[in-house]
Amino acid sequence: MNYSIDTNSLETLKKNCAIVGIYSNQTLSNAAQILDNATNGLISTVVKRGDILGKLNDTLLLNVIPNNNIERVLLVGLGEQKPLTTKNYRKVLAAAIGAIKKSRFDSAVVALTDIEVEKADVTLKTRQIVEVFEDAMYQFIDCKSKPADEMTLKSIVISATDSAAQSGLAQGLAISGGVSLAKHLADLPANICTPTFLAQQALTLATNFAAIETTVLDVADMEKLGMGSLLAVARGSREPAKLISLEYKGGETNAKPIVLVGKGLTFDAGGISLKPGAGMDEMKYDMCGGAAVLGTLQAAAELKLPLNIVGLIPATENLPDGQANKPGDVLTSMSGKTIEVLNTDAEGRLILCDTLTYAKRFNPEVVIDLATLTGAVLVALGRVPSGLLGNDDALCNDLISASETANDSVWRLPLWEEYQEQLKSNFADLANIGGKDAGTITAACFLANFTEEFRWAHLDIAGTAWRTGSAKGATGRPVPLLTQYLLNRANA
Ligand code: BES
Ligand code: MN
Ligand code: ZN
Repeated sequence: MNYSIDTNSLETLKKNCAIVGIYSNQTLSNAAQILDNATNGLISTVVKRGDILGKLNDTLLLNVIPNNNIERVLLVGLGEQKPLTTKNYRKVLAAAIGAIKKSRFDSAVVALTDIEVEKADVTLKTRQIVEVFEDAMYQFIDCKSKPADEMTLKSIVISATDSAAQSGLAQGLAISGGVSLAKHLADLPANICTPTFLAQQALTLATNFAAIETTVLDVADMEKLGMGSLLAVARGSREPAKLISLEYKGGETNAKPIVLVGKGLTFDAGGISLKPGAGMDEMKYDMCGGAAVLGTLQAAAELKLPLNIVGLIPATENLPDGQANKPGDVLTSMSGKTIEVLNTDAEGRLILCDTLTYAKRFNPEVVIDLATLTGAVLVALGRVPSGLLGNDDALCNDLISASETANDSVWRLPLWEEYQEQLKSNFADLANIGGKDAGTITAACFLANFTEEFRWAHLDIAGTAWRTGSAKGATGRPVPLLTQYLLNRANA
């Protein structure tokens, strides 16, 4: 889809369709009023007839607008006449794109930046238009043998009088590009999206952006580094493990980098502690953290953010095999700490702990890891916010504030030392599971043993990275949150 901004008055634009809002008290938005004036009161006539009530998400397409530059008008209900919440604004946008995405015309002008939205300026409103539209138009069709119906809609023009819309457009394109990349990699099946495939994607990013450099460590490199924990998980798989490292250099040479670590488990069968069969296909999504790191780095590079950012993605499968990790095995991690594997299905923390130890050599400003780490986060928080835990209040607060702007929510859980008790092992320094209570917290507590030397936050995205059921598919979260965090850092 091609997006652009047009600052000319709406009635002068020649488009197949214009999208304007009306409130439930029959008041027309400014843009709707402009079109009403240009059409001899057509819109107010339709509204007075009660053909559209203006309730939130109502839509009505007026297919024929006689003698006008604009051929059609889509009216969208805005609900009560007062500033919209961001959530409601996004619902309105989703209803609008839903109503026209299968139409047979090419161009539409969105005249919804004039609507008042709480805490949102024109930049943010423009950005949300691009984000919501791109989200609605994403399709995963790689694995269908017949081509999908072609969409005829090719160009979206955003009508805005304020020049601040331009930066919103740039942010919207970068974020939705990162989200689409993350969704696409995650939706790919595990027989295509292997650790080697993920590494190739990271190398492609380095070819596309001069400021990104990618290095891929293979099993022999990781052996030399002593990554006994990560490699133990990889032993059960015939796909060679990779530790993918991307460096985006947009900041000053000696500025400390922000390090993003993403779990890249391309398929999690549980290992010897095998998962039940039902729903196991969804464990192809266990690399969503890694995919979000790639998406976020792409967005940062596109926005040319003046920051240094490192992305680290440990990538492997977790399968049962004669060579696989066994319950009771004791591993020596790169940090020197020993780990008793009480459940081979708690593999995410085993690959992350060595990667977090490795992160230290980049002299990080902060480290943020993102991982589909625990089913327990679904019990605690459902599929609405990502779980947030960390050893640094300022960093956690920065993430909370970015999540509010980005509409990509998080909820903080405590990481108190009392929980460390649950990770005691009779045979090693640490056990890899902490029993049935507080599973998300004990998983983070495990990681905290490897992050003592830097400011660190952990996002458990097991509930938010993909949708289950009939709308099964990746969401691209938390790319919007992380990109917003980086934007905020760049402006600080
Ligand atoms: N990848 C899973 C977490 C997961 C489970 C994500 C369900 C989404 C839905 C992770 O590797 C895992 O298996 N965690 C175990 C940990 C347990 C053995 C302590 C879990 O959550 O069941
Ligand atoms: Mn697992
Ligand atoms: Zn897993």
